[in-house]
Amino acid sequence: MTVLITGAAGQLGTELCLRSKARAHDIVAVNHSELDITNESSINALVAHVKPAVIINAAAYTAVDRAETDSATAFAVNRDGPLYLARACAKADIPLLHISTDYVFDGKKSVPYLETDIPNPQGVYGQSKLEGEIAVASVLDKYITLRTAWVFSATGHNFVRTILRLAKERDELSIVADQTGAPTWAGHIAEVLLKIVDQIHQGKPVTWGLYHYTGSPATTWHAFAVAICEQAFALDMLEKKPIIKPISTSEYPTPASRPQNSVLACAHIQKELRIPQADWRIGLKQILIQWKTQ
Ligand SMILES: NC(=O)c1ccc[n+]([C@@H]2O[C@H](COP(=O)([O-])OP(=O)(O)OC[C@H]3O[C@@H](n4cnc5c(N)ncnc54)[C@H](OP(=O)(O)O)[C@@H]3O)[C@@H](O)[C@H]2O)c1
Repeated sequence: MTVLITGAAGQLGTELCLRSKARAHDIVAVNHSELDITNESSINALVAHVKPAVIINAAAYTAVDRAETDSATAFAVNRDGPLYLARACAKADIPLLHISTDYVFDGKKSVPYLETDIPNPQGVYGQSKLEGEIAVASVLDKYITLRTAWVFSATGHNFVRTILRLAKERDELSIVADQTGAPTWAGHIAEVLLKIVDQIHQGKPVTWGLYHYTGSPATTWHAFAVAICEQAFALDMLEKKPIIKPISTSEYPTPASRPQNSVLACAHIQKELRIPQADWRIGLKQILIQWKTQ
């Protein structure tokens, strides 16, 4: 069985490729330059050539702030691309595993968001991802859309890399402490997706649809930064721990507004697919060790 992975050079795509090697199925992993998911005829030609048994879409436009002034690209990649992939899957009668985001919510709920809660994105990125979810569900029955959050990995730009750099440069950092969410290691997301692929491969029934999956426990950006510096210090990657000052969102304005609470309830995936949440601090330690030994 062949699995086609799009967006293979991104955080999630890289982890999917790393983990796929140890598995029974064949992988065809294509990066942005090898397949542009906004080009429907390229998708159709590749699917006809590769004949995958399942497609994982790890491609996305993830620049949350840039999306505010580049909405045409954000919608092309995050809405139209998933639509074209879903159409190709429908035509070939194969499943699509797609990824979405906590930023589909407005963050005004005081408890974790359920899959049944009504989305209300606060920015272009969240809106484009929501429209991608809707597009996939509108043309395909056999799909999994996995909403995740605060993704980090050893590759690409992410919060962990930024905090580690700033902690080396400065004695004091000011980090937003009034947004709550759940960091998620891309390695854990990749494991979840490949577990679903294994179920498909083994012919086990899969309950298709929308799922929430993030790391645990929930935290704030401030507490996440503290954890990064503590672990890095413990691993001798920092000479000293910086002072990390908690600040409010209003003290750190960004072009796109972020949800204040974006914690996703992950009971549905645990119940239906028997997939438990994983501790993001394990992923954090893994990537710090990887950077240290590079
Ligand atoms: N990062 C987060 O914090 C976060 C949070 C919640 C949900 N998610 C979701 O999780 C998924 C994986 O995110 P990630 O962090 O792995 O993202 P990422 O590191 O930004 O990777 C996305 C990949 O998609 C590629 N790409 C962009 N436009 C493309 C196109 N038109 N055709 C093909 N490939 C294209 C990018 O290539 P280029 O770099 O060359 O453009 C990049 O390699 C996405 O669906 C994202 O929305 C991410």
